[in-house]
Amino acid sequence: MAVAEVQRNLPPEARHLKLNGHVGFDSLPDQLVNRSVSQGFCFNILCLGETGIGKSTLMDTLFNTHFDSTPSKHDLPGVKLKSNTYELKESNVRLKLTNVDTVGFGDQINKEDTFKPIVDYINSQFEAYLQEELKIKRSLHSYHDTRIHACLYFIAPTGHSLKALDLVTMKKLDSKVNIIPIIAKADTITKSELQKFKAKLMSELMSNGVQIYQFPTDDETVAELNSSMNAHLPFAVVGSTDEVKVGNKMVKARQYPWGTVQVENENHCDFVKLREMLIRTNMQDMVEQTHSRHYELFRRCRLEQMGFTDSESRSLKETYELKRSEHVATLQKKEEEMRQMFVVRVKEKESELKESEKELHAKFDSLKKQHADEKKKLEEKKKAMDDEYNLFQKRKAATIASQQAAQQAAQAATLSGKGKKK
Ligand code: GTP
Ligand code: MG
Repeated sequence: MAVAEVQRNLPPEARHLKLNGHVGFDSLPDQLVNRSVSQGFCFNILCLGETGIGKSTLMDTLFNTHFDSTPSKHDLPGVKLKSNTYELKESNVRLKLTNVDTVGFGDQINKEDTFKPIVDYINSQFEAYLQEELKIKRSLHSYHDTRIHACLYFIAPTGHSLKALDLVTMKKLDSKVNIIPIIAKADTITKSELQKFKAKLMSELMSNGVQIYQFPTDDETVAELNSSMNAHLPFAVVGSTDEVKVGNKMVKARQYPWGTVQVENENHCDFVKLREMLIRTNMQDMVEQTHSRHYELFRRCRLEQMGFTDSESRSLKETYELKRSEHVATLQKKEEEMRQMFVVRVKEKESELKESEKELHAKFDSLKKQHADEKKKLEEKKKAMDDEYNLFQKRKAATIASQQAAQQAAQAATLSGKGKKK
């Protein structure tokens, strides 16, 4: 019975029918192309590499234009990301290109947290897209998608090996963005050194489990080209927008006292390969990979964090109720903790006050005693001084009396002397 019900809910098996004439839905691919062209395209590149490694020059060379850029200083306290968006047009195809540049990468003495601002930037673009998706009234068609589609990772042409910073940064980013490693300023390294360097880099990336972007080989129209290009990774590039006359043609090149490096000459560097792969063949694939692989992973983790699961045993409403009750329980727990803390604080304050009252009483008593002692001492002193004063008065009176007696005696003697003379 249950099986029959399930079978009834299944869509009917589609039957093949032959058309008896032209209907017109063979124009669907054209309709799709027209719609895409009128909407325009969007592509966001992150240029990640040390200060002065040639990021701005390469972007200018790739898109054959001059983007805004100011050279960075080497003394910045941390890494920052700077984003600029441009509207480009080629034939009737419009491309909204966002170029995100790292500023101050690799310049700090302590490089432990260098990857953090980059990871945060990528995550916050995913988060912004997720928030738009979760809105009740979504407008994803007009939404400016800022998720990073490709990360050009500039490796210094040391001819040696990857730096620890490169490995750590790429490892932190490989599940979030399509990484295309490139060897910058490849004109500074010899041909044989370059081959060894490339092999060394690839083996280091492999042994450290760093997943770089592989050009897709599932579409047979580009499978052969892409798989041959995968073997050339990492591309060794040279950037320059300077035009130099070679033969009777003007070409982009870098001129040295001993010769000229032509940017678009495949014998000189892999610039053409990079442009072919990044712009001409796989741009759309990178946009799709960003959405279906990297964003999907971010979205799944975030929704799981929010408490959503795909389990059939729990509906969206039940998840909401569960989350709500968890939230209420957390709030109640916090409230109880705060109440407890308040009671403890009041008790502490009370005992502090009692203690200081006790101290004040003790101080008062000792002051009172001190005062009484001093008063007693002063009274004794006063009594002693009174006695001294009285004694002094007595002595004074006695002295005066004896002086008067002496005076009187002297006067009497004088009077008796005068009487005898007469
Ligand atoms: P900041 O934005 O300041 O971090 O620098 P940046 O990475 O954008 O480097 P920028 O493109 O400004 O180039 C720095 C210097 O390197 C300039 O003098 C460029 O001419 C030079 N440069 C750029 N690309 C190459 C290259 O492929 N080979 C060589 N030898 N020099 C290059
Ligand atoms: Mg720059």
